[in-house]
Formats: sequence, structure tokens, C-alpha cells
Amino acid sequence: MLTEAEQHEIEAEAAHYPERRAVAIDALKIVQQHRGYISDATLTEVAVFLGLTRAELDGVATFYNLLHRKPVGRNVIWICDGVSCWLTGYGRLRRQLEQRLGIQEGETTADGRFTLLPIVCLGACDHAPVCMVNDDLHHDLDPAADPDRMNKLLEPYR
Ligand code: FES
Repeated sequence: MLTEAEQHEIEAEAAHYPERRAVAIDALKIVQQHRGYISDATLTEVAVFLGLTRAELDGVATFYNLLHRKPVGRNVIWICDGVSCWLTGYGRLRRQLEQRLGIQEGETTADGRFTLLPIVCLGACDHAPVCMVNDDLHHDLDPAADPDRMNKLLEPYR
């Protein structure tokens, strides 16, 4: 069951729209903020709360790739594998991150500090290669240009 805080936050968003279904993504993001990810049971709870079928909400959750359907680490690194990033150092950046974290793309570090996930185009192609750590966009990350930049960048994320 959704907590009172979750319900209150979703209702506050829904008040801006004529139909509750308009806040489907916002509702899932709110619940994700509270719980870390959207389990199958959580998805059902949100669907019931919004008056949607589980299948309708599942369709939304599937197409919005910033929603986690499995547990993730305390910090999520989204590495862009779009064309511009591919051409400007994505491979080098990915290898550097995988080496530094001791995991492969799609995995979480043993201490639960980081999850490394791919994402297609973060809209900063003119500053490729880029990644996003939680909600923070970081750009111009080719390790060939500055081998230590990514390491320093990750330090504040605990
Ligand atoms: S392709 Fe990476 S930001 Fe656009």
C-alpha cells in the first residue's frame, strides 16, 4: 500500500491535470524516490491508486527508461551510448568505469554504492561523451583527454 506521503505527493501532482492518468510517470518517479525502485507489487499499487490497469501503467514504465524495475545502488551512473558519444569516447569511458567500479554495465557494485546503466542520448551531443550520475549531467568525459576526470567526479557520491 502506498504510504501517506507517497499518496499526498501524487495527489499534489494530479491536482494540476484533468485526468489522473496524466501523472502516471510522475507518480512512479515519486514512489521510486521513496523506495529506490518500482517492484511489480508497487506498480500494481500505483495503478490502483491512479485508476489504471496494471498493463496500462506497465506500458508507461517500460517506455520511460529512468524508472528502475529492479533494485539499484545508492547512485546510478547512466552512460550514454548514443551515436555522438560512441564516436567520441564512449568505449573508453565505459571501460574506465567498469575497471574503476569492478562491474560490467548493468551491474551494481558489491557495496551498493553505484549501478552502471546504459542510456541513449542525454541531449548533450555537442559535449560528448557524457554520463549522468543520479540527476547530474557530466560532459566532455573522454578519458583520452583527461584520464582522471571521471574518478574525481565520482568521489562526492557516497
Ligand atoms: S549521443 Fe550522447 S548525448 Fe547525445
